[in-house]
Amino acid sequence: MSAPPSATRSTDAPPTAADVPSLQSPLLEVENLFVHFQTAAGVVRAVDGVDLALARGETLAIVGESGSGKSTLARAIMGIELAHRGSIRFEGRTVLASGPERRALYRHLQLIFQDPEASLNPRLTIGNAVAEPIQIHRRLTRPERRQAVEELLGHVGIDPALIDRYPHELSGGQRQRVSIARALAVEPKGLILDEAVSALDVSIRAQILNLLVDLQRRFGLAYLFITHDLGVVRYLSHRVAVMYLGQIVEQAQTEALFANPIHPYTRALLDSVPKLDPGAPRKSAALRGDVPSPLTPPPGCRFHTRCPQAWDRCSAEIPRLLALGPRRARCFLAEAMTTEATTATSMTAKAMTERDG
Ligand SMILES: Nc1ncnc2c1ncn2[C@@H]1O[C@H](COP(=O)(O)OP(=O)(O)OP(=O)(O)O)[C@@H](O)[C@H]1O
Ligand code: SF4
Ligand SMILES: [Mg+2]
Repeated sequence: MSAPPSATRSTDAPPTAADVPSLQSPLLEVENLFVHFQTAAGVVRAVDGVDLALARGETLAIVGESGSGKSTLARAIMGIELAHRGSIRFEGRTVLASGPERRALYRHLQLIFQDPEASLNPRLTIGNAVAEPIQIHRRLTRPERRQAVEELLGHVGIDPALIDRYPHELSGGQRQRVSIARALAVEPKGLILDEAVSALDVSIRAQILNLLVDLQRRFGLAYLFITHDLGVVRYLSHRVAVMYLGQIVEQAQTEALFANPIHPYTRALLDSVPKLDPGAPRKSAALRGDVPSPLTPPPGCRFHTRCPQAWDRCSAEIPRLLALGPRRARCFLAEAMTTEATTATSMTAKAMTERDG
């Protein structure tokens, strides 16, 4: 794999605001995407109007409780689920159900699941598993292919001496490394990782995360990183999108989101992370109750049934996803912030006019 220009961040520190790649010419853009499932019980609104953009070389984390629509969003981007409304653009081109843009997306965005056993054929040696996509997508002679497979295994920290082993002869962490090598075999521009490290032991998880940071730095890969683990998000991602009942409720650079979450749901998610220091004060707004059914999402703000700050308006009106500089938040409280910001700006402008003139 050749090394495109890439982020320069080191592998031993979480990304800062200065590391966030530009969204000027994004790799992937999703606009107003809807994925609904017709079921006997009614329509499941799994993804209900999602907008997002993924920059080249960026890690965008998607977080949210179980059932918020994260995997459905990933599957719709990959064309595994049919989006019945909205658009997907890859490298600036609209991706339809079939055609060259869809083929480009299939090749350059690879999906990695939680369970590597599901994506590795138990009857193929790991060498053949990694060779298979090379055979389909790249014109290489047999010895060149063998060399490429050994190089890829080396990139993901697997000893090429294991090339003739079968998946069941490897550990979970080694199998996930092979899945990553197989995804890299087609020289992708991005990976969608759906809970890709969740099933691994803590120490192995840390090794795979380090590997992902290292591969991003070397090959300029973009990651759409779906996870429940907010500790991982803080370490790995440049930006975070928080999903609730099929919608993005907050989107921000990671540092800003952790330092100052705007949406009450984001705040509750962050508060629900166990603290390392047992003496640390426990904050009050942790999540209460279950996520409502996406068959009948609550009217108004979808979070109002669990929100500690809800008032009358929240059950009657739908909040828009408001822009606050580079951040987005879907909450009436954010409206108040933009009003405050606008008032502060106009007061400063008025004071400057009076001073200067
Ligand atoms: N094929 C399907 N048919 C009907 N409902 C579905 C289907 N796939 C997903 N759903 C529903 O859509 C909603 C979103 O599911 P999804 O798997 O995308 O959530 P998730 O955020 O990935 O959850 P988790 O964190 O548990 O993986 C859930 O209510 C789920 O039951
Ligand atoms: S709009 Fe209202 S209910 Fe919704 S998150 Fe904001 S304060 Fe809570
Ligand atoms: Mg999922």
